[in-house]
Amino acid sequence: MTNQEQHIVAVIGAGPAGLFAARQLALSGVFVVIINRDLKPGGLVEYGFYPDKIKMKAGLRKQFSQIVELPQLEYFGNVSVGDEGDITLENLNRSGFQAILTATGAQGTKWLELPGETDYKGVYHAKDLVYHYNKLPPYSKHEFHIGKKVAVIGVGNVMMDIARWLAREKKVDEIFAIARRGPAEIKFDKKRMEYLIANLDQEALDDELGRVAPVMVAIGQDPEASREYILSSLPKAVEAVSNTKLRFYFLASPTKILGDDNGNVNGIEIANTTLIPIDDDTRAKTLWTRRTLNVDTVIYCIGDKVDEKYGLPVQWNEFVKNPNPQYPVDGISYEAYNPESGLPIQGIFIAGWSREVSSGLVGIARKDGERSAKAILKYLENVKPAANYMDIFAKFKSRLNRLEKPIVTKQHLPLLVKAELAEAQKHNLEDFKFDSNLEMLKIMNLI
Ligand SMILES: Cc1cc2nc3c(=O)[nH]c(=O)nc-3n(C[C@H](O)[C@H](O)[C@H](O)COP(=O)(O)OP(=O)(O)OC[C@H]3O[C@@H](n4cnc5c(N)ncnc54)[C@H](O)[C@@H]3O)c2cc1C
Ligand SMILES: NC(=O)c1ccc[n+]([C@@H]2O[C@H](COP(=O)([O-])OP(=O)(O)OC[C@H]3O[C@@H](n4cnc5c(N)ncnc54)[C@H](OP(=O)(O)O)[C@@H]3O)[C@@H](O)[C@H]2O)c1
Repeated sequence: MTNQEQHIVAVIGAGPAGLFAARQLALSGVFVVIINRDLKPGGLVEYGFYPDKIKMKAGLRKQFSQIVELPQLEYFGNVSVGDEGDITLENLNRSGFQAILTATGAQGTKWLELPGETDYKGVYHAKDLVYHYNKLPPYSKHEFHIGKKVAVIGVGNVMMDIARWLAREKKVDEIFAIARRGPAEIKFDKKRMEYLIANLDQEALDDELGRVAPVMVAIGQDPEASREYILSSLPKAVEAVSNTKLRFYFLASPTKILGDDNGNVNGIEIANTTLIPIDDDTRAKTLWTRRTLNVDTVIYCIGDKVDEKYGLPVQWNEFVKNPNPQYPVDGISYEAYNPESGLPIQGIFIAGWSREVSSGLVGIARKDGERSAKAILKYLENVKPAANYMDIFAKFKSRLNRLEKPIVTKQHLPLLVKAELAEAQKHNLEDFKFDSNLEMLKIMNLI
């Protein structure tokens, strides 16, 4: 291989999966072009993590900056790929990149499609709120009508983050956490409860555990163990800052959103469920009995799906992967696949939450990105390095320059980092973020 010959790969998405994949590829001699919708790199670390995770964010931000600064790598922020984006995947695929990694996370919104869901004001998806309180433009400026009695659907860590924001920032009166299965199937990490346990209505919890105990016991579950799990954070309880009451409703599946004549949510109908054991797990079976909870806001915390307008086939909320991968890593397929033709989509790979939606912590996304890089490197073993990779890059860059919008590059990002640090110091804050693209672009001298 001469100096001029190099593989050139596009990585779409600069969350942990895309960035750590890019790092691995660049360190293996590939020329990497990262294309990111957001101005800043980081994905959900920047715009998903609860805002007070300052230390963890700082450590990750440092690693992300180091990746973006790698000489083998270029970064283009404020560019979205997709059928309705700045550039289509098809177009990108014709730009000469020898492989493309899709690491765009799970940007679609999963709804339950219940009657009333789209009819009334006050039904939201957690992702939009998380982006809002983490100051991601344009969500940062969206208005959300958060009332006093809020139903949160799902009992994972995202629900805990949302409930924490409702109790500690919005200071709502009541939070109704609705789980279609039982206390033994809660998905949240008990540590997350530390910020909420002071707001937990323990009497209501005991009543609810008593109510669902017969169903649990019938299938060999231990209600007391679940109680201990939920209450285990009591010794580390963070002091409450509101009178919010958090109540759990188990074995409850939402069936209808109710509203008033003014178009506002005023209730949620839930069906009782029971548990059917399947292998080592359970399934919720909906029963006929229904009840109504008076709430004025409903927030779905039930996970996400991928963006259906991105340009890759989607099934079951995820991009379709080649069921018989040519380049498996640890038995996992990272290869895009067209189920209609029954053929792999050559050269296009998928990683992170784009490969497996709403799945796992940042370390898992990192590992997934790194494994996808291994799959790409195996694929590239049979692809001749491009003698003209710099021409390919130059052409792509001039195509981006023809877009009528400012594009953020690795040369611009340090200006933003510096300005945000200065603002934090000036206002004596641990962290500061500009919440509009306009401000960020101005600071980077892009407008
Ligand atoms: C609310 C919430 C809180 C979390 N808190 C924690 C936590 O405290 N600790 C922890 O370890 N994990 C946490 N996680 C999980 C962690 O954030 C994820 O595991 C991880 O971010 C997934 O990485 P990813 O790179 O696959 O996707 P993402 O982080 O979503 O990154 C996707 C990237 O792709 C870009 N993109 C999207 N669409 C396009 C497009 N069309 N074109 C170009 N670019 C695009 C986005 O701009 C973004 O930069 C949390 C998740 C959520 C939802
Ligand atoms: N460490 C952190 O601070 C942190 C913070 C936020 C997120 N995360 C991580 O991010 C990932 C995603 O978290 P998540 O909370 O979105 O997902 P999750 O852990 O999978 O929880 C989703 C919840 O929604 C429920 N649900 C899903 N589909 C439903 C439906 N159709 N009807 C009713 N309920 C439904 C699930 O119930 P079933 O169990 O019955 O399916 C579950 O209770 C997880 O890995 C999580 O750990 C971490």
